[in-house]
Amino acid sequence: MRAAMLREYLILPLLASYGAAYTISVAKSGGNSTTNLQYGVMEEEINHCAEGGLYAELIRNRAFQGSSLYPSNLDAWTALVTVEGKGKIGLTNEGFWGIDVRPQKYSGSFYVKGAYSGSFTASLESSTSGKTLASVDIKSKSVANKWVQHEFTLTPNTKASNVNNTFSLKFDASKASGGSLDLNLISLFPPTWNDRPNGLRVDLMQALSDLGPKFLRFPGGNNLEGETIDSRWKWNETIGPLTERPGRPTTWGYEETGGMGLVEYMEWCDDLGMEPILAVWSGLALNEDVVSEADLDVYVEDALNEIEFLTGSINTKYGALRAKYGHPKPWTLNYVEVGNEDNLNSGLASYTAYRFAAFNDAISKKYPHIQVLASTIDMTLPGTAGGDYHLYDIPDNFVKSFDLWDSYNDSHPILLGEIAATEYNNGVGIDWSDYTFSLYPWWIGSVAEAVFLIGAERNADKIIGTTYAPYLMNLDSYEWSPTMISFNADPDNTARSTSWHVYDLFNHNHMTDTLPATSEDAFGPLYYVSGLDKKTNSHIWKGAVYNSTADVPVSLTFESIKQGATADLTVLTAPDAYSMNAVGGSNIVNTKTITIKAGKSGAFSFSLPNLSVAVLTTN
Ligand SMILES: *[C@@H]1O[C@H](CO)[C@@H](O)[C@H](O)[C@H]1NC(C)=O
Ligand SMILES: *[C@@H]1O[C@H](CO)[C@@H](O)[C@H](O)[C@H]1NC(C)=O
Ligand SMILES: *[C@@H]1O[C@H](CO)[C@@H](O)[C@H](O)[C@H]1NC(C)=O
Ligand SMILES: *[C@@H]1O[C@H](CO)[C@@H](O)[C@H](O)[C@H]1NC(C)=O
Ligand SMILES: *[C@@H]1O[C@H](CO)[C@@H](O)[C@H](O)[C@H]1NC(C)=O
Ligand SMILES: *[C@@H]1O[C@H](CO)[C@@H](O)[C@H](O)[C@H]1NC(C)=O
Repeated sequence: MRAAMLREYLILPLLASYGAAYTISVAKSGGNSTTNLQYGVMEEEINHCAEGGLYAELIRNRAFQGSSLYPSNLDAWTALVTVEGKGKIGLTNEGFWGIDVRPQKYSGSFYVKGAYSGSFTASLESSTSGKTLASVDIKSKSVANKWVQHEFTLTPNTKASNVNNTFSLKFDASKASGGSLDLNLISLFPPTWNDRPNGLRVDLMQALSDLGPKFLRFPGGNNLEGETIDSRWKWNETIGPLTERPGRPTTWGYEETGGMGLVEYMEWCDDLGMEPILAVWSGLALNEDVVSEADLDVYVEDALNEIEFLTGSINTKYGALRAKYGHPKPWTLNYVEVGNEDNLNSGLASYTAYRFAAFNDAISKKYPHIQVLASTIDMTLPGTAGGDYHLYDIPDNFVKSFDLWDSYNDSHPILLGEIAATEYNNGVGIDWSDYTFSLYPWWIGSVAEAVFLIGAERNADKIIGTTYAPYLMNLDSYEWSPTMISFNADPDNTARSTSWHVYDLFNHNHMTDTLPATSEDAFGPLYYVSGLDKKTNSHIWKGAVYNSTADVPVSLTFESIKQGATADLTVLTAPDAYSMNAVGGSNIVNTKTITIKAGKSGAFSFSLPNLSVAVLTTN
């Protein structure tokens, strides 16, 4: 990484000597109304984003689940044995690369099979000091030939000095019939967001909640597709009691438990007020196996069943199942996406020939209100169907795509379902065969994304919404960087990226309508969009400066705003183009808000530095 230039940000007075000055006039009407979704979240099981991340379970490999791809094993566990067969024996789990221990209530449970008259001891221990941080004895209810669940709580008195802690479960072998017991589904949860059982990690939910996302695209991504047809994401195997969720091999190198399933995704939407964009499996696996037209019906039916599970009344077969699992009230579902990136892996021919149509026709017929989205725009979109566009690229190419949507005059709505500047500028673009992606979003990439987002907002009548992808990464075990939010086992280390700060600024200044703007000056180095929030009647202007050799003076007038009116101008900058927000580090994005007054002829005058992102809102 380059040495920081330590450039203090100043909002400079308007100076005539500063090269290209932008004079921008915004009309009071003539724009388009925008969609409400705009900024959302895309999530799937990758980078231990859910298991070992957002899903708050602290025990890794809690039920020894495996598949032909990743056979069952004892990863994360070690056996505790005794000298000469005396005292308690058991097993220890190292968590998802550590366990956060602090004074709060941990809810645990485990299943035992085998006759046992003694007690169990559950404890949290520090690997650094060897000290026991919390311990509890649990009287056995265990019997022969039957799995019996035991529950307990642990409440440490103090915060551990680091996350190098383990969880242990012990029992007295001399009191167990045959000297051994079977143990399974050993689980431990810290407090969760909204105190939901089987819930989500608080610090990560806070980072998402603060961003205020409007939609969630789930459950993938490549993870929806599966490596093989049989290892696709099966909604019906992620619901109900945890003991009935078999788990599956993810497409990202590890087995998942199914603990974060369909219902947990919907509860996540409920908790953050996000609109679900449900992706259903479309007949294509990553190994390029494709379901033939003759065999596709069962998968179409499965997608309809899934939608019925979410939205059907309790008088329907799957609506009744949802009620049985604690959700009698149907959820609302307005968006369904068919597959993921069906333009890749030789999928496009079958997708355009029959796969998309089969799902689209069946879903639209039964649920006419649902907006169906194709997983690509590399095809002629039929009827009212929308499409999904993904962009991973170098910053320069994001900026060059600023006007991508201006010429898109198709009436089919577009979801920008995966967007991220991933690799440093190299004069060309991403080399997928030899990619060297950045570990975290970095400032120049985030500014380039801002330019692209401004291009999307200018066309927010055509664009349903945009999401960075992927969203979450456990720094101790990941397959893909950069991501929006990075973390490890210690919640105090969670990093909200430079891109998080850009999305945060843009999302919290939502335009209900765009407004036409005119200027003699072409876009670049300044890119901007203007509009109105009809709810507050505030005029909004968003801008970003990229590739400027000097600060850019701006003179901005709104047709309906007079001299003396005030506006808030928020400007984001960073120490240098390569600054990043790292796990365990502090936030390097500099956010500065000032109030400015409209001068002669109602012009707001200000100046923006190279590599800055700004929002102006009138009061
Ligand atoms: C955790 O503690 C163990 C035992 O002291 C030590 O071997 C290991 O290196 C520690 N790991 C970390 C990440 O500090
Ligand atoms: C889930 O549905 C699939 C069909 O998509 C079926 O093959 C499988 O057996 C079902 N699993 C369970 C647990 O019902
Ligand atoms: C930014 O400037 C560099 C160096 O002049 C140039 O190679 C690149 O194409 C520019 N990027 C954009 C998006 O204009
Ligand atoms: C808009 O679409 C129509 C029909 O496809 C096409 O003829 C026209 O050239 C397009 N206009 C632009 C500006 O792309
Ligand atoms: C409104 O939409 C039309 C059609 O897409 C487009 O030509 C026009 O530029 C848009 N106006 C604004 C202010 O975005
Ligand atoms: C402005 O930003 C570009 C990247 O867009 C960077 O290459 C250049 O060095 C910056 N120029 C100045 C004068 O800071």
